Amino acid sequence: MAVNSGPDSRIVINVAIASAPYEVRIAPGLLARAGEECRPLLRKPTIAVVTDERVAAHWRAPVAASFERVGVESHWLILPPGEATKSWDILARVTDWLLAEGIERNDRIVALGGGVIGDLTGFAAAILKRGCGFIQMPTTLLAQVDSSVGGKTAINTPAGKNLVGAFHQPALVLADPLALDTLPLREVRAGYAEVVKYGLIDDPAFFSWCEANGAKLLVGDAEARAHAVATSVAAKARIVAEDERETTGTRALLNLGHTFGHALEAETGFSDRLLHGEAVALGMVLAARYSVRRGLMAGQDAGRVAAHIAAAGLPASLSALGLACTGRELADHMLHDKKMDAGTLRFLLLRGIGETFLAKDVAIDDVAAFLDAELAG
Ligand code: NAD
Ligand code: GLY
Repeated sequence: MAVNSGPDSRIVINVAIASAPYEVRIAPGLLARAGEECRPLLRKPTIAVVTDERVAAHWRAPVAASFERVGVESHWLILPPGEATKSWDILARVTDWLLAEGIERNDRIVALGGGVIGDLTGFAAAILKRGCGFIQMPTTLLAQVDSSVGGKTAINTPAGKNLVGAFHQPALVLADPLALDTLPLREVRAGYAEVVKYGLIDDPAFFSWCEANGAKLLVGDAEARAHAVATSVAAKARIVAEDERETTGTRALLNLGHTFGHALEAETGFSDRLLHGEAVALGMVLAARYSVRRGLMAGQDAGRVAAHIAAAGLPASLSALGLACTGRELADHMLHDKKMDAGTLRFLLLRGIGETFLAKDVAIDDVAAFLDAELAG
């Protein structure tokens, strides 16, 4: 991974995956010059763009105009917004449309949107003609700092989230902080949880930066947003280059807060009641508090984590969620987590802020008892 500053104060982060290295370019205004940025990668004067209705309402016109300026006609598939779009039915719709568009292996398909569009389009690109190229243009904070980088693509099935998918790296990522100006605040906050995650994993100075600058970022400070995206992407690029397929345990660190979070999402029906990033935020607080219970982390540090998550307007207390379930029921959702390994639960715990590690000795009964105590408040 290398970070360079370009001529227009852009930040370019190289994701140094041996088989498929690519750049993440971060700069305000990139969407309005998407055509110019992508043109060198295109072999034909047409491009297929997959997006959703809400993103299209704000960003279709500037992106289409930029392709037009460089002589490329953009063809658009505009899907319904929301998690339900990551489905078999819509995947078939996307692949049928791409085939009708005459997409060839060396073409590039554009995913313009949040994690839903990125995961779905990336998976379609992975399986179409046994693998076509694609470009990520992430428009949510969550997608800019996490899902657009690293090549995890997937759809959901009735059995669970992201259970059918593939590793398929994009050819290029264009992250434009201005895209976040049209994003609802609740979605910005949800994405911010993933930003805080990088501080908690292994960068205590970045966690302190978040404490000092998070409020500015949330209300729209462009410099703070660009810094947070660049720091997060640099961290993710480093981890992914080291462990692309999550085989050594390094990439698993990116799942901090996700085992608790996944259980909370499952309990709330993967609905708007609790967004993915909100579940991760509370999941990180629970991971910190459970680490205190295990005698691993100082209570003061866990308090700092909870205080910052709460200050960002994210859920920081399980009892405040008002769930009508037991700790055992929540813990049972974890048994369906795809990170189960030979029947054992792998858990990300903390020894301190910036000291996350993978614990393999977590007893589900103990987690259930902990959750009962947390539910009671
Ligand atoms: P999302 O894609 O559903 O976007 C959230 C909402 O914001 C949608 O309604 C969308 O239409 C709208 N939106 C997007 N950009 C906008 C903009 N600029 N202006 C206005 N509205 C905009 O949600 P998300 O949080 O980006 O992604 C969540 C998905 O990402 C989940 O499916 C999750 O599983 C996946 N994910 C994948 C990875 C990975 O590594 N592949 C990592 C984390 C999460
Ligand atoms: N979002 C977790 C990962 O990319 O591994």
